[in-house]
Amino acid sequence: MGSAGYDNIKIAVRDLTKLFSNNSHNLHALEAINLEVGEGEFFCLLGPSGCGKSTLLNIMAGFEKPTAGKVLIGGEEIKAPNPRYVTVFQDYGIFPWRTVQENVEFGLEIKGVNGSERENIAKEFIKLVGLCGFEKRHPYELSGGMKQRVSLARALAVNPEIIFMDEPFGAVDALTRMKLQEELVKIWGKENKTIIFVTHDIDEAIYLGDRIAVMTPVPGKIKSILEVTMSRPRIRTGSDFLGIKEKIYSEFFGLEKCQQKVKL
Ligand SMILES: Nc1ncnc2c1ncn2[C@@H]1O[C@H](COP(=O)(O)OP(=O)(O)OP(=O)(O)O)[C@@H](O)[C@H]1O
Ligand SMILES: [Mg+2]
Repeated sequence: MGSAGYDNIKIAVRDLTKLFSNNSHNLHALEAINLEVGEGEFFCLLGPSGCGKSTLLNIMAGFEKPTAGKVLIGGEEIKAPNPRYVTVFQDYGIFPWRTVQENVEFGLEIKGVNGSERENIAKEFIKLVGLCGFEKRHPYELSGGMKQRVSLARALAVNPEIIFMDEPFGAVDALTRMKLQEELVKIWGKENKTIIFVTHDIDEAIYLGDRIAVMTPVPGKIKSILEVTMSRPRIRTGSDFLGIKEKIYSEFFGLEKCQQKVKL
């Protein structure tokens, strides 16, 4: 049995360290990171700004090299980005000169999928993210939440095994964000992808994750990994939800402070 009940380990991070060096100083961004993500798992990396979440995600996705240690995906060391895994960035990463349809088709073009098949696959994912009718629009005509959906549709359209997401809902308002989280959970439920999701939002991590790695800064370390066993869709105001929230607060601030806060 793999991590947290998963039969197959999809990603393994082993003794990972990252040091950024320039002429004047070194910055110890990550130290002794060890974790395993199961195939089909929704895994969240949660921590404050600057704790190394993006650095860790970028190393896992092959965009950045570790100083020491390694990342294995499907048992093989990852040394460069691989088209079987996609990354959704906070700034959407969509092309302003392409329409919604053309943006969603982009990864399929790279894969060499032919015109009509490409069109049909893109349409299917545009529908899945609720953007029917917007196929011919350009990004400047869309809201932030809609652009985020385009970015998600483009990622899903290439049928990746893993989706790396770096604060993808950071730029949208709280209500739209909740809607996008709901949609993402539904899509993940249908598509059975492995998702690594970076966030600094505690509620977001509890709503989405099977497990949450709590990170602390300078250097970035994994303080603990919490399992969220609540069934989905999760009730954000339910006592189980709030119980996990209290646990996470106590990881960040210490149990005593956390209980004082809760009593207030
Ligand atoms: N290319 C780089 N060169 C030097 N230092 C860097 C580089 N990239 C990141 N850092 C430093 O590494 C640390 C971790 O940065 P990282 O972007 O991973 O944090 P983060 O947890 O994603 O923060 P945020 O939530 O604000 O996005 C920070 O102190 C940052 O200044
Ligand atoms: Mg970041």
